Amino acid sequence: MKQFCKNYFYLRQVKNLKHRIAIFASGTGTNAKKIIEHFISSDKITVALIVCNKPHAGVFNIADQYQIPALLIEKKKFVEGNHYTDELKNAGITFIVLAGFLWKLPAPLIRAYQNKIVNIHPALLPRYGGKGMYGHYVHEAVIQSAEKESGITIHYVDELYDHGQHILQVTCPVLPDDTPEKLAKRIQLLEHEYYPKVIEEIILRNEPASSE
Ligand code: GRF
Repeated sequence: MKQFCKNYFYLRQVKNLKHRIAIFASGTGTNAKKIIEHFISSDKITVALIVCNKPHAGVFNIADQYQIPALLIEKKKFVEGNHYTDELKNAGITFIVLAGFLWKLPAPLIRAYQNKIVNIHPALLPRYGGKGMYGHYVHEAVIQSAEKESGITIHYVDELYDHGQHILQVTCPVLPDDTPEKLAKRIQLLEHEYYPKVIEEIILRNEPASSE
């Protein structure tokens, strides 16, 4: 009986923690940190893995800080075939969050996680997106074009850069005395506020967790 109870509670625990996120990041990882913190006490969703392509990226320190396993990936293995797709599946990853990840995802990975990969972009797509449009390049281009508004776009990921179906856009003003740094700060606040909540909503909406 004792053994039965132990197994039963173990199974319930595993069942409730069925949504396992891998966060892919290439840089500092401030979004990764906010997402980890958002789910830290969730009984339905957990950040199970950090995936990074740069050996000295700040996101490794965040993984350490929260004791989350981290995987450094190699370009050749990543772009060719299924190597990391299998690794993610074996680690029980059910959802992928891109948070400042700069490589394009290979087709087998996108197919394996259809509608289960999201990205955030620091501008109002479809403008100011695509290859090479990241970080300060985005904000410089927005200011140079004298835009009155910028913001964030959260979207599903397909095989093109910054291209999948939009999930949410939130705007903010571009002020007359804005520098790329000032605008970046304003946009970062929006990212930190909205990204974790949107991820939670999508995961629970697509695959409602057991009410047991
Ligand atoms: C964010 O601005 C995000 O929109 C973009 O990459 C940046 C990542 O920043 N995709 P951080 O490393 O999370 O601070």
